[in-house]
Amino acid sequence: AKVHHHDFVVQATPVKRLCKTHNSITVNGMYPGPTLEVNNGDTLVVKVVNKARYNVTIHWHGVRQMRTGWADGPEFVTQCPIRPGASYTYRFTIQGQEGTLWWHAHSSWLRATVYGALIIRPREGDSYPFPKPKRETPLLLGEWWDANPIDVVRQATRTGAAPNVSDAYTINGQPGDLYNCSSKDTIIVPIDSGETNLLRVVNSGLNQQLFLKIANHKLTVVGADASYVKPFTTSVLMLGPGQTTDVLITADQPPSRYYIAARAYASAQGAPFDNTTTTAILEYKSANCQTTCASIKPVRAIMPAFNDTATATAFTTSFRSPRKVEVPTKIDHNLFFTVGLGLMNCPRGSRSRNCQGPNGTRFAASMNNVSFVLPSNFSLLQAHQQGIPGVFTTDFPGAPPVKFDYTGNVSRTLRQPVKSTKLYKLKYGETVQIVLQGTSIFTAENHPIHLHGYDFYIVAEGFGNFNPSRDTSKFNLVDPPLRNTASVPVGGWAVIRFVADNPGVWLMHCHLDVHITWGLAMAFIVENGVGGLQTLELPPADLPVC
Ligand code: C2O
Repeated sequence: AKVHHHDFVVQATPVKRLCKTHNSITVNGMYPGPTLEVNNGDTLVVKVVNKARYNVTIHWHGVRQMRTGWADGPEFVTQCPIRPGASYTYRFTIQGQEGTLWWHAHSSWLRATVYGALIIRPREGDSYPFPKPKRETPLLLGEWWDANPIDVVRQATRTGAAPNVSDAYTINGQPGDLYNCSSKDTIIVPIDSGETNLLRVVNSGLNQQLFLKIANHKLTVVGADASYVKPFTTSVLMLGPGQTTDVLITADQPPSRYYIAARAYASAQGAPFDNTTTTAILEYKSANCQTTCASIKPVRAIMPAFNDTATATAFTTSFRSPRKVEVPTKIDHNLFFTVGLGLMNCPRGSRSRNCQGPNGTRFAASMNNVSFVLPSNFSLLQAHQQGIPGVFTTDFPGAPPVKFDYTGNVSRTLRQPVKSTKLYKLKYGETVQIVLQGTSIFTAENHPIHLHGYDFYIVAEGFGNFNPSRDTSKFNLVDPPLRNTASVPVGGWAVIRFVADNPGVWLMHCHLDVHITWGLAMAFIVENGVGGLQTLELPPADLPVC
């Protein structure tokens, strides 16, 4: 196994998009940032130097970080931020994961421009469980704002209203030829007639689930979130922010140019969203258009409607592990977490500047009625490891305070979220099941729920209220998919299971940044087990302090 050393310089860089130049925060002047390529078993050592004027941290999304929680990255969870002028070196080993992951800033909304792909190939000497692709291309889907994303989130937190939606979606940082001033920079993905290539698709967008389609081509899904899946064929992908999907594509169409297109899957009723479409172009080399290609009009991709839940569900329920897996069956913690938006009443008379949500309220979001607040003097992991009192409590509820019709039309006074920093404690090796139940206090929405430090099995998903006597019999305990981010369906639920075998403090949150901003998060403490292999490592000497 190799050790890969990288330097990440976080800095302001002029980036021109949609006819305007912005001073965007980037890594090494690149947007998107550098692609990291490793083999399973390798170690990454990434020195992050902060030359920007914002605090920053980097999260290695989906990397399990076995015993190396200090390298996970979420601000005030596993570390204090890297201040302007400071640096921190992340050191971790890839253990058993293969496929596509990614890295992104985990401070404020900096990940809008601070992100990149992390490609994990099989161990040296091992091969893919599918024929070796001719080429491999990462496709990072993103969201672009004309405004500074930090100002967009500040506006939302200050006013209590919803933030502005993005101005463009992007593929590998480019909006594509349906937007102003973007045509000549449209990403070209080359392919040769007859060859089969691997596309590594990542939804690095901030707030939108996205459909992706390639005109006239079928896609064979072979992996997701750095685990292989039982291959299945589809014409459309749907990814929530945070999720990755590896697909094989065979050039079996007449030589030409074909659109690769992505647009929102926006299932929430009435919530505004960016209704534009980003494009790249799949270009057959045998179209022999080295000089005249631009004159060949790409074949159009017919996209699903923005609210096509049937297509999204058909896709998300197609995932299986390649073979029978060991799903935990004796459950130590049977948890039920509501996930959803809510509204907070504003103090009487403060009908003001910071209460511009619906009817003079402010937006909030919560799990089991707790709207998560990050500490600011310590990281949760540091407070846990050093036994610093007063930073958090460990009474995160295992079930909602009151039962109600989660997906029905209920009065929001039933559930005014409470702001606090509550964690849920697990002993090393305990088994956990969580029913993630979407709510519709304000509006029903999909929630891509991401758990740090773990992969989990998604054993079932469905619509309406989870009903144990009806739904438990449908659990797939044979070959469910292993993921790090679960799309909880709009007006529905998903059930996940995992074994708490990685000590540390691990954030679980909705990967729509607007929802994490409003508090849709909680964290698990997983205590050390017995012996070195079950114990969190000591913090690195350069760990940033607050
Ligand atoms: Cu991809 Cu907490 O993040």
